[in-house]
Amino acid sequence: MRVVSGIQPTGNLHLGNYLGAIRNWVLMQDNMPEGGQCLFFLADLHAISMPHDPAELHRATLEMAAALVACGIDPARSILFNQAQVPAHAELEWLLNGTARMGWLNRMTQWKDKAGKNREGQSVALFVYPVLQAADVLLYQATHVPVGEDQKQHLELARDIAQKFNNDFASADAPVFTLPEAIVPPGAARIMSLRDGSSKMSKSDPSDMSRINLVDDADLVMQKIRKARTDAEPLPSEPAGLEGRAEAANLVAIYGALTGESTEEVLGRFGGQGFGVFKPALGELLVETLRPISRRFRELLSDREQLDAILARGGAEARELARPTLDATYSALGL
Ligand code: ADP
Ligand code: NA
Repeated sequence: MRVVSGIQPTGNLHLGNYLGAIRNWVLMQDNMPEGGQCLFFLADLHAISMPHDPAELHRATLEMAAALVACGIDPARSILFNQAQVPAHAELEWLLNGTARMGWLNRMTQWKDKAGKNREGQSVALFVYPVLQAADVLLYQATHVPVGEDQKQHLELARDIAQKFNNDFASADAPVFTLPEAIVPPGAARIMSLRDGSSKMSKSDPSDMSRINLVDDADLVMQKIRKARTDAEPLPSEPAGLEGRAEAANLVAIYGALTGESTEEVLGRFGGQGFGVFKPALGELLVETLRPISRRFRELLSDREQLDAILARGGAEARELARPTLDATYSALGL
């Protein structure tokens, strides 16, 4: 089993990024069967498909790498790197451009959504982005790729490209590419804003009180939870009682995501209690969870050498793993 997954480098990381994305990687790593391997990369090459600020991209890439390690990605067990350090991603993307069809890419709903009515004004990179995604996983003979709902179509495309390439350029008993299977990430929690319970917790929300940042100290976390918007009712003892109570449901969901309990289990303990009891319990749980993460996160961000060394090592390991597939691709194409 070989799992390959990428994440866009993004700064100002918050609880939503942790519970919705980063922690899934940690769970996958920690549950890898014997002999299995995870490759996790920062998708910095993807980031240039949209207008971007180079200094900000560089900063966000390092910040995301630090966050991943702080949250539990172990560079000794998983291969952690950024795409730009492994030229084989861009090379394979070009080689696969000969196989990918315009019609396939034109059908991608993300392309249609992102480009909107202004197709002519988009970068070519935005259009061929799914081919780079195909290269990202095919390069390592990934067997499994965790994908959210919005990425399923891109994984199908990667399989179509792999299949057509194998058909056109390889013999049936020696295919160049493995067709990767989609896996649903373990616990994809969707965390909502602390201010309204109905919009997603996000770094783009102008109110800092709407989110818990990975770098918030204990006092600030307690304050944000205390001030989180709720109704005045006690917590129900059954999940059905949370219907129409988005803010309460969100706080219960955060609690359960942190302890690994179901909504039933959380309500089994807190049903009938008011927020005067539940909020301090949630605040303390958050503080306990985030304390080691934010300590390690700050430490890594202030020790660039350590961070650079982790990424350099991951990059070297990835380049070595990528080599045979890249060589086989050139050779199959007569290059
Ligand atoms: P933001 O919305 O703060 O800009 P990004 O869009 O950069 O966050 O998301 C980075 C990763 O974190 C993505 O995988 C995304 O799905 C995940 N993510 C972001 N916000 C949340 C949230 N509120 N709940 C769950 N996952 C989230
Ligand atoms: Na966003």
